[in-house]
Amino acid sequence: MTDTDPGYLESIATSLAREAGQLALVRRSEGVSIAATKSAIADIVTDADREVETLIRARLREIRPADGFLGEESDADPGTSGITWVVDPIDGTVNYAYGIPSYAVSIAAVQGPLNPGEWTALAGAVYVPPLDEMFHAARGGGAWLGERRLRVETDASAAGALLATGFGYDPTTHAGDLTRVARVMPMARDIRRMGAASIDLCSVAAGRLDGYFERGLKPWDHAAAGLIVTESGGRFGVFPPDETGRVLVIAAVPGIYERLSGLAQP
Ligand code: IPD
Repeated sequence: MTDTDPGYLESIATSLAREAGQLALVRRSEGVSIAATKSAIADIVTDADREVETLIRARLREIRPADGFLGEESDADPGTSGITWVVDPIDGTVNYAYGIPSYAVSIAAVQGPLNPGEWTALAGAVYVPPLDEMFHAARGGGAWLGERRLRVETDASAAGALLATGFGYDPTTHAGDLTRVARVMPMARDIRRMGAASIDLCSVAAGRLDGYFERGLKPWDHAAAGLIVTESGGRFGVFPPDETGRVLVIAAVPGIYERLSGLAQP
């Protein structure tokens, strides 16, 4: 096994995600404080987001010193090995801050340029601490929920697709997001907005959703979970930025992916 073997990188991602998730759980039980707001007043970072990212970054520096790092809460480092770790320490920060038990640590190892359209995801882990659920995948090795292999159904139910979406923090973009929701509703049996993009994506891989779409995700929201979707047999795409600079991410079971992509795009 080489040090770029996807299975080896997957084992690092799962072990770090579990350790980081335990820290997030402990900090949540102690009470959460908002450290700052970011792009908009609704876009928050907690002290725990920063502490968890610092922990993951420090561990990676010890065991993979030549690798790059791209995280939600700290400066990027391109590294020298060609492998970059793409990390969201707490995806679903607003859920976390409100005590809604739906948030995740997301860790991916990618190879190539620091651009989701150009890199190759080699391994990923999405750990949901309140449920102790570990979604993980290695390129070519399948997608897993713990020890259970994930394989998506090829089509949605005849009753229509159970879909999920999300809304960015910038209020000026909400009207456009709602227009998309109205456009996709005819193909939906119902729609969810659960608050953590990585979990939404893993839910497609696990058969808990038929499809998911959202504008404005950042690379750390989908780097690990996008691989988990494709390794489960689902389809995943990152569509080019719109006039506001926001990419559109779509994941779905194969039978509805094209239709959902057509309706969710401008
Ligand atoms: C957010 C969550 C949310 C999605 C936002 C993301 P964060 O990530 O994934 O569900 O709608 O677009 O930014 O800020 O909690 O890491």
